[in-house]
Amino acid sequence: MMPVRQFILRGLRRVAASLDPDRRLVEHAEPTDSGPFPMAWPDRYARLQQALGRSLASQFGGRHDAGQMIRHAVSGSIKLADALVLAQLVAETRPAKILEVGSFLGFSTRWLLECSRACGSRVVSLDPRVRHRIFDDIKTHVLSFCKDDGDRLTCIDAYLSERNDAMFLHDYLKYEPVLTREEALAHLAKVPVIDQPFDSFDLAFIDGDHGFAATVLNVHLVARMLTTGGWIVVHDAMSWPDVEPALRALCTERNGLALEAIAGRDFRSRFQRIHDVRLLADGLGLVRVLDADRVRHTDPRQVVRASRG
Ligand SMILES: C[S@@+](CC[C@H](N)C(=O)[O-])C[C@H]1O[C@@H](n2cnc3c(N)ncnc32)[C@H](O)[C@@H]1O
Repeated sequence: MMPVRQFILRGLRRVAASLDPDRRLVEHAEPTDSGPFPMAWPDRYARLQQALGRSLASQFGGRHDAGQMIRHAVSGSIKLADALVLAQLVAETRPAKILEVGSFLGFSTRWLLECSRACGSRVVSLDPRVRHRIFDDIKTHVLSFCKDDGDRLTCIDAYLSERNDAMFLHDYLKYEPVLTREEALAHLAKVPVIDQPFDSFDLAFIDGDHGFAATVLNVHLVARMLTTGGWIVVHDAMSWPDVEPALRALCTERNGLALEAIAGRDFRSRFQRIHDVRLLADGLGLVRVLDADRVRHTDPRQVVRASRG
């Protein structure tokens, strides 16, 4: 059996080529790229990972061990195949405005900004920006990591749909500087919640809370900010067990939404171990708004209640 690393490298060229059979990305690639597609976007991804490492060392170097930082940052950020699918969607749809839900350190934020340079999309990034994994002061990092495209970026510091303090409490109780439960909850209580549409978008990328109810509520609220034909890309459709069932429950013709594909699914059959799949792809649910009117008339809480029987 071929070593997995070699298999991945060999597979990447095929993956990249198959993701863009019409070679559209070449048209939108910038002249500074090191070579023609298919290597341009994977190279960019690799360069961005290196830049992330340098940026983390510069902001958090004195506070955390370098290896620990990279492990947390890489496992919490989008993988290569997912990033390529996003790049393809941006190149094909040329959105004027993109919504990102869940930025963490800003890797996917910068990826979206870089992918959309040719069409000049504005990116609105929404995240509570509280401690995530070992990192505090995440917003400073997002802003400095994305500064080259900062004029196209707007940050909103909030929870989408619902407060989900429990997701972050663990990190305040486990990592230095450790807070008491009361201190952490008091800190989290200051984060506002956005549970109504606040803008309109052409494309959205959701990578926040991946629980069943959170996925249904977030996708529905985001869909209310898109017009008919718009796309919502939902991360972790393979690596989080509730995401795909939630998308299947919500995305019906009656509700005005369609789950068109789980991008990355075919990797499952190419690798023996799920761990190896996750080096490349966490899976993206590709949701299309079929009918904005029907979306408006859907009650997402009813979808959640019905799934609980
Ligand atoms: C996996 S990380 C995102 C990684 C990022 N998309 C990337 O690929 O670089 C998940 C992020 O979701 C955010 N998040 C969690 N719950 C959220 C909510 N209710 N609304 C918005 N963002 C949320 C967290 O703060 C965290 O930064």
